[in-house]
Amino acid sequence: MSMKILVTGCAGFIGMHLCKKLLDKNYVIGIDNINSYYDINLKKDRLKILKKYKKFKFFKLDITDFKKLNKVFSKINPSIVIHLASEVGVRNSSKRPRSYISTNITGFINILEACKDKNIKKIFYASSSSVYGKNKKKKFVETLNTDKPLSIYAATKKSAEVLAAAYSHLYNLTTIGLRFFTVYGPYGRPDMAIYDFTESIYKNKKINIYDKGKLGRDFTYIDDVIFYINKILRRKFYKNEILNIGNTETIKVTKIINLLEKNIGKKAKISLSKIPKTEVYKTKADITKLKKIGSIKKRTPIKKGILHFVNWYKVYKNII
Ligand SMILES: NC(=O)c1ccc[n+]([C@@H]2O[C@H](COP(=O)([O-])OP(=O)(O)OC[C@H]3O[C@@H](n4cnc5c(N)ncnc54)[C@H](O)[C@@H]3O)[C@@H](O)[C@H]2O)c1
Repeated sequence: MSMKILVTGCAGFIGMHLCKKLLDKNYVIGIDNINSYYDINLKKDRLKILKKYKKFKFFKLDITDFKKLNKVFSKINPSIVIHLASEVGVRNSSKRPRSYISTNITGFINILEACKDKNIKKIFYASSSSVYGKNKKKKFVETLNTDKPLSIYAATKKSAEVLAAAYSHLYNLTTIGLRFFTVYGPYGRPDMAIYDFTESIYKNKKINIYDKGKLGRDFTYIDDVIFYINKILRRKFYKNEILNIGNTETIKVTKIINLLEKNIGKKAKISLSKIPKTEVYKTKADITKLKKIGSIKKRTPIKKGILHFVNWYKVYKNII
């Protein structure tokens, strides 16, 4: 059965891929303010893809503007909300903390208020693996303590989880927080490692790596993320849930650079620096809960994911 699904942050990396998948079977209403944190042409290109679908409707608006947001909710009356709009980037959040708090906390309350007013029972929202902070555990499971974020960004994501719990308790909303682990792939974010390193290698620019490249991330391929979200959309949930969405393998930054060099056919120029205070050392998702709720998927290995990314990058940037 087709549904009317409202997706915020639809011109973003995860948002575009998710809307595209949902549009196979559903009506999708996308919201985005197209902010200029990174090249807006990439956001416009993603939107172009979505606008080809008749069942897609776009509203350019800022989620901090409750009046306008509420009008869209009234007009559309969606059955599910997937909230991905956010100020993103861990390091940048120290430079503009108020902006992060405004979108990620006030904006999120606006979404929750609109859902409460319109009696929308199911809300998925993006959280982040960054909430695990300096946790020493090998694998990050949802039940670990997440009270010590290392960045303003992570603090806003943790705040959103806490607010979702209160709204769920008070107003009987089903709120499902998705803790994404370093998502990458075609149409990805230029501020994130894989895109940034690729661009630097092509442009002969130095890649700045922390702590001699020993940092590790659980890199998760975009198609796997979309598969999981699509699978769990119709599942029954407890009122307030948190779910890890990751690949379950820690890959060191040095390995990412090696793979990029092989695929691009060129050596990277490296400069070294100390790990900033905002950075988590390593991440690795425990996805036992996700597997129980969704269904099992053969996850995309990093070699294959990087190959797909570099191939897309070459076509997108007209590199022969
Ligand atoms: N990509 C990852 O690895 C990753 C990891 C953890 C969590 N997340 C979370 O997943 C979500 C999607 O991330 P992404 O990587 O696609 O980022 P993205 O920046 O590509 O997408 C976010 C979108 O939200 C929009 N936006 C920002 N502020 C807004 C506002 N006030 N009103 C309306 N729209 C606004 C932006 O213009 C952007 O298009 C975010 O909530 C992010 O925090 C992403």
